[in-house]
Amino acid sequence: MSKDNFVTSIKESEIKEGQMKAVRVKGRPILLVRQGEQLFGVSNICPHMGCSLEHGILRDYLVMCPCHGWKFDIRNGQYQEIKEIALTSYRCKIQDGKVHIEIPHEE
Ligand code: FES
Repeated sequence: MSKDNFVTSIKESEIKEGQMKAVRVKGRPILLVRQGEQLFGVSNICPHMGCSLEHGILRDYLVMCPCHGWKFDIRNGQYQEIKEIALTSYRCKIQDGKVHIEIPHEE
């Protein structure tokens, strides 16, 4: 039986539908995105040249990096032009009014 690795983050009320919010959990910069009832977490560092994605543009399930326009699907982190490039994705859940983010065990 494996113990889950969810770490408590911000209050649910701090992120509204259609919004993005940058958080840092266990030293990892994570971009939370809320769309409808769902909450997604991806790395907040663009793999192109390292810009933060929280100031990018969110449209449906795509976030566009503010620096040079790379677009990523927040559901799986994939860069839309080259599917092999992807942001790390983090499972998220809302429980007891808080956002919880799954952080894998350190290697
Ligand atoms: S740093 Fe994100 S597109 Fe260049």
